[in-house]
Amino acid sequence: MRVLSALFLVCAFTASVAGDPNITEAAAETLSSTPVKTLLKSSFHLYHEGKVFEETCALLPFRSESLLRCGYNHSHPLVLIIHGWTMNGLMEQWIFNLASALKVRLGQVNVLISDWRNLALQPYPIAAKNSRQVGQDVAALLKWLEEAAQLSMDEVHLIGYSLGAHVAGFAGSHFRGRRKVGRITGLDPAGPHFEGLPAFDRLSPDDAQFVDAIHTFTKSSIMPGVGIKQSVAHVDFYPNGGSFQPGCKMLDIYSNVYQYGLQGVPKTIKCAHERAVKLFTNSLINTSQPIIGYRCRDDSTFNKGLCLDCKQMRCNTLGYDVRHERTGRNAKGLYFKTGPEAPYKVFHYQIRVLLMNLMEPVEAALSVSLNGTRGQILDVPVTLYQDSSSPKAFTSLAAVAADLGHLTSIRLVWKGELVWSSWLRRVRNIMSWKGSDQDVELSVWRIRIKSGESKEKTWFCGVSAEVTRLKLSEEQEFRSCARRTETQT
Ligand SMILES: *[C@@H]1O[C@H](CO)[C@@H](O)[C@H](O)[C@H]1NC(C)=O
Ligand SMILES: *[C@@H]1O[C@H](CO)[C@@H](O)[C@H](O)[C@H]1NC(C)=O
Ligand SMILES: *[C@@H]1O[C@H](CO)[C@@H](O)[C@H](O)[C@H]1NC(C)=O
Ligand SMILES: *[C@@H]1O[C@H](CO)[C@@H](O)[C@H](O)[C@H]1NC(C)=O
Repeated sequence: MRVLSALFLVCAFTASVAGDPNITEAAAETLSSTPVKTLLKSSFHLYHEGKVFEETCALLPFRSESLLRCGYNHSHPLVLIIHGWTMNGLMEQWIFNLASALKVRLGQVNVLISDWRNLALQPYPIAAKNSRQVGQDVAALLKWLEEAAQLSMDEVHLIGYSLGAHVAGFAGSHFRGRRKVGRITGLDPAGPHFEGLPAFDRLSPDDAQFVDAIHTFTKSSIMPGVGIKQSVAHVDFYPNGGSFQPGCKMLDIYSNVYQYGLQGVPKTIKCAHERAVKLFTNSLINTSQPIIGYRCRDDSTFNKGLCLDCKQMRCNTLGYDVRHERTGRNAKGLYFKTGPEAPYKVFHYQIRVLLMNLMEPVEAALSVSLNGTRGQILDVPVTLYQDSSSPKAFTSLAAVAADLGHLTSIRLVWKGELVWSSWLRRVRNIMSWKGSDQDVELSVWRIRIKSGESKEKTWFCGVSAEVTRLKLSEEQEFRSCARRTETQT
């Protein structure tokens, strides 16, 4: 990933040449009006409708007549959208998609867009440093609205993307105690220059009454990432583990760079980074099927299917409708899978297989077909992991695109790749043993499937015998023999 960081640097420097620090309209207006209260380096625009920046209305802080001119409604709450680092100086499309979704969903709301492009179109380290200044500008705007428009800080929701998330945090840190800003949402808050810093140097739960964050492109052992990995909110969501997103291909970076030159780098990075924005925007539009995140120690535990639990508020709703819950400092993140495109929601099933024969601590690859009253899904590849609570229990997670209703029957194919079977194969090769793989079998006693979304648990039994012998590559059917739905507390 050295190539990528080198490209990053080149981009940052190209951007700095193109960048042209400019005093914004608002600041110029402030300068010309007497007395000068604060010199703001960024500006704010009221969104009405439309898809371009030119259709917004410039709100001039400390000039109360601009509130009237822009049609700012004093009795509505305020949502402020804050962009991040920019390499081309354009107001990106997601801003208007989000603003429009907020208007459609909330109706009576003042949607403001922060414009700090002059400070963001800089080499990344400088833009990162500038985020503190921009936070101060946002705080100055809010303090002015508090006086000029009787805005209560309870009614303020700051939504920041990437560096904009830290801008929101810095803005929030100017308000304390009962005057704290109502809510901050961090959409893939930026990682470089913020990861590992103390709370006052980045977005943190101290910055608002309620802080939520969605992490979609964080650094992992194999991915570079530009989002922050650590928890920065009261409720931190990690879709698909948070380090990369389905439908985004890291390998595309090479073809994108080939096709678009250096502009190809942001194209690749944006896919996973901007997924946080898309998930949040989608939560405003699609309220019929909210996406649920499940509290879990980490991604690998989640992938074993061990965290599909909603008891004691262990799950929460992603996006705008998140339950405002102020968890302790060391609260675990919320995990879930998504599809590659809107509406993103998938349905999670924990598959728990109970074996009769004792096995080594192994991982087994299976292909599962699930049949339910509302549909079926064929050949989902899953990996069974040994459940640490019982040597004969194996668990796995399956994420499927549709709600299958009550599960009635399932079919399993054991694909092998079981550690001990490959070991066995190796031994056979060495010893030139002529025995067949068919000798190896799993004796399945029961299978239990728990649906994360419906909370229903269904037990499955073999069709013909109490114990079903599952041989490599051979399909076996199991039918439901008991069912129970967990009651939520
Ligand atoms: C500076 O900003 C103003 C108003 O936003 C714009 O009209 C002007 O073209 C900008 N100048 C440069 C050099 O970018
Ligand atoms: C503000 O919105 C309210 C409805 O919430 C409406 O009755 C009122 O007329 C609006 N005021 C202005 C100035 O548009
Ligand atoms: C909302 O999500 C559901 C299920 O994920 C999907 O079937 C539906 O088409 C979505 N609706 C919109 C308006 O996106
Ligand atoms: C799936 O289950 C339904 C009952 O819900 C049953 O009628 C149907 O035959 C089953 N299909 C398969 C392929 O097992």
